[in-house]
Amino acid sequence: MTKQETSARNRIFRQVAAYYKKFHKKPAFRPGESFVNYGGRVYDEKEMINLTDTALDFWLTSGRYCAEFERQLGAYLGVKHVSLVNSGSSANLIAFMALTSPKLGARRIKPGDEVITVAAGFPTTVTPIIQYGAVPVFVDVELPSYNINCSLLKKALSKKTKAVMLAHTLGNPFNIKAVKDFCLKHSVYLIEDNCDALGSRYDGKFTGTFGDIGTSSFYPPHHMTMGEGGAVYTNDGQLKRLIDSFRDWGRDCWCPSGKDNTCGCRFTQKFGGLPLGYDHKYVYSHFGYNLKATEMQAAVGLAQLKKFPAFVEARKKNWAYLKRALAPFAKQLILPEPTPNADPSWFGFLVTVRENAGFTRDQLVAHLEANKIQTRMLFAGNLIKHPCFDEMRATGRGYRVAGKLENTDRILNSTFWIGVYPGMTHEMLQYMAKTFADFLRH
Ligand SMILES: Cc1ncc(COP(=O)(O)O)c(C=O)c1O
Repeated sequence: MTKQETSARNRIFRQVAAYYKKFHKKPAFRPGESFVNYGGRVYDEKEMINLTDTALDFWLTSGRYCAEFERQLGAYLGVKHVSLVNSGSSANLIAFMALTSPKLGARRIKPGDEVITVAAGFPTTVTPIIQYGAVPVFVDVELPSYNINCSLLKKALSKKTKAVMLAHTLGNPFNIKAVKDFCLKHSVYLIEDNCDALGSRYDGKFTGTFGDIGTSSFYPPHHMTMGEGGAVYTNDGQLKRLIDSFRDWGRDCWCPSGKDNTCGCRFTQKFGGLPLGYDHKYVYSHFGYNLKATEMQAAVGLAQLKKFPAFVEARKKNWAYLKRALAPFAKQLILPEPTPNADPSWFGFLVTVRENAGFTRDQLVAHLEANKIQTRMLFAGNLIKHPCFDEMRATGRGYRVAGKLENTDRILNSTFWIGVYPGMTHEMLQYMAKTFADFLRH
């Protein structure tokens, strides 16, 4: 970049910073009048300046910012390969589809094979399994961890089991040791849906880095944001190639956008039934997608990454405040507990109304919402009961349930969560505690 261009950009950046300061200030919190959101973007002029920088580059597709984001997220997590994608759902889709590649030989997931998972969670952890024609095998979860009951893994196992695909529920890691031991013992793949748990640790190591593949979401309420965005990570070089192939149209070539002949043998190889030397750039080893992220997303993400360790600390602090404030009501509410050996980077604060509480979840939620405190369900609650499952429920085909989903149904009926995101101020937390107490002391 010439000196003249750099100084022109700096002039624009100074104006962007001034604009941020003048027009993006958060209004003061007014208890009972302002909303207490469950999540949201926390940003300053740095995100807006990075975004402006990409506008001035006008590269648009993935480029220098995407490459740098992949490098920095990998360094942060301690994982070798990161592929940036356009959402957490795309990340799950690609993570799953990578494991269907014929290049994996006998271990690959084929239609009709089984994948162990849970029904208490977000749909797109399960969707890719169904869309491909594999069979999700649902097992129950435990309270108050809201994660898989690992004693049921054996019951779910069959000759067709090829993978376990699970989310760390709302930031709380599942029992990684038990799940990983199971996967290693039976030679099945593990996909960690880390979309709600970025920054969580288990045995001192980041979640998402234990399994064969981990995924992240950067949708605004998540631990950090790009608007829309996601990432797929792995330590396995072969899986990285497969992930990128499925992300980038199914191609065999791995040249970044705008680059040619990285492998040095673009016109000299033989593939499938193609003539010798057919351009490697246009050789397709999979039926892939195009789920790449753009420079604009990565530019915002890079500014967010700098703030990320502070975000995690704020989430932990806010969660601990709510845990202390609600402790006196443990007879009415089941309060969340971290998994042993885990240090969760919480996505939210989960509450289950006890059976004998004298009120229902819906009544407590109505009180909080009426007082402008946003609440959320544990996503699908029990995914099998949703309309998308109507046909499968009616025929009993396409999925399997190992045992009973008693706690899953309890979550469907009695659980909700509130936010702990870094944009939450002390006044908001105090107000939430008081609003709970007003209802529970009644
Ligand atoms: C556990 C989990 N997985 C996947 C996703 C999908 O992420 P995205 O909204 O970026 O597609 C979400 C979304 O919140 C989620 O909670």
